Amino acid sequence: MYLAEKVMPKLGMGTFRLEGEIAYQSVKMALEIGFRHIDTAQIYGNEAEVGQAIADSKIQRDELFVTTKVWNAQLNHAEFIESVNQSLNKLQLSSVDLLLIHWPSPENGEPMQEYLTELKNAKTAGLAKHIGVSNFTISNLKDAMKILNKEEIFTNQVEVHPYLTNQKLRDFCKQQGIHVTAYMPFAVGKVLKDQTIIDIAQRHQVSAAEVVIAWELAHSMSTIPSSTKRKNLEANFKAVNLKLTEEEIKIIDNLDCGDRQAIPDFAPEWD
Ligand SMILES: NC(=O)c1ccc[n+]([C@@H]2O[C@H](COP(=O)([O-])OP(=O)(O)OC[C@H]3O[C@@H](n4cnc5c(N)ncnc54)[C@H](OP(=O)(O)O)[C@@H]3O)[C@@H](O)[C@H]2O)c1
Repeated sequence: MYLAEKVMPKLGMGTFRLEGEIAYQSVKMALEIGFRHIDTAQIYGNEAEVGQAIADSKIQRDELFVTTKVWNAQLNHAEFIESVNQSLNKLQLSSVDLLLIHWPSPENGEPMQEYLTELKNAKTAGLAKHIGVSNFTISNLKDAMKILNKEEIFTNQVEVHPYLTNQKLRDFCKQQGIHVTAYMPFAVGKVLKDQTIIDIAQRHQVSAAEVVIAWELAHSMSTIPSSTKRKNLEANFKAVNLKLTEEEIKIIDNLDCGDRQAIPDFAPEWD
């Protein structure tokens, strides 16, 4: 079993695109419902609101798992650790549970050796309990494993949903013992309109969102759907109880059509 499976709640709440009061209220609701794993990032511009919602919840620190990610512009030696300290100030935390490199440095503008060393330094300094990467391809991971022990790479957080199963990369991660965290599990809502998924949901008398989360979890991934609505957060939270049949899992696997959502101009091609 991966360390991530032992220490990180497999279902978290994502916060991309959530700003200001909406970010605060959404995280507050998620914590009230029972989510104990929150995913943010420097670039989301909401670490302060996430931190305030956490502080106001009065939940014990050791019951929460908080992830943030270092943005591309802060990967350099001069700014990396300072940016993590700023994240911690905004989050009102002395350390995050997981610190990720958000994207491999665009066009290798910053050498991987440099930013992974900074990442490790952040852990050594006690600013992060665990460290990992996001949006790393197989080739990026091969390079990373020459710099960090692969046991130190807590997770690779990548886009995975029924329309983009990212199977080749997931197989590689499995082979190397690197846990996969699936982001954009609903393809930002798109897969929730899929008739095959709706049919499976009707069979189980649950929502399409629950089916998609159950599919991600059945593949031993963690996942971090985001929502701003209490009703949706509640549905997402109870998805951990849904068990799909092997046949249903295979049917959903076969919906893959390579439909990628997160594709900024600096993004590497998936494998
Ligand atoms: N590492 C990276 O580069 C990266 C990139 C992208 C995303 N992420 C992480 O992954 C998280 C999830 O991705 P995402 O937020 O882009 O997309 P997503 O979770 O796939 O989809 C979010 C959308 O689904 C809707 N939704 C949520 N629960 C629902 C439900 N039960 N029923 C119906 N609709 C529902 C939400 O609307 P409502 O608000 O109306 O519920 C929202 O429009 C992000 O928030 C972020 O933390 C990481």
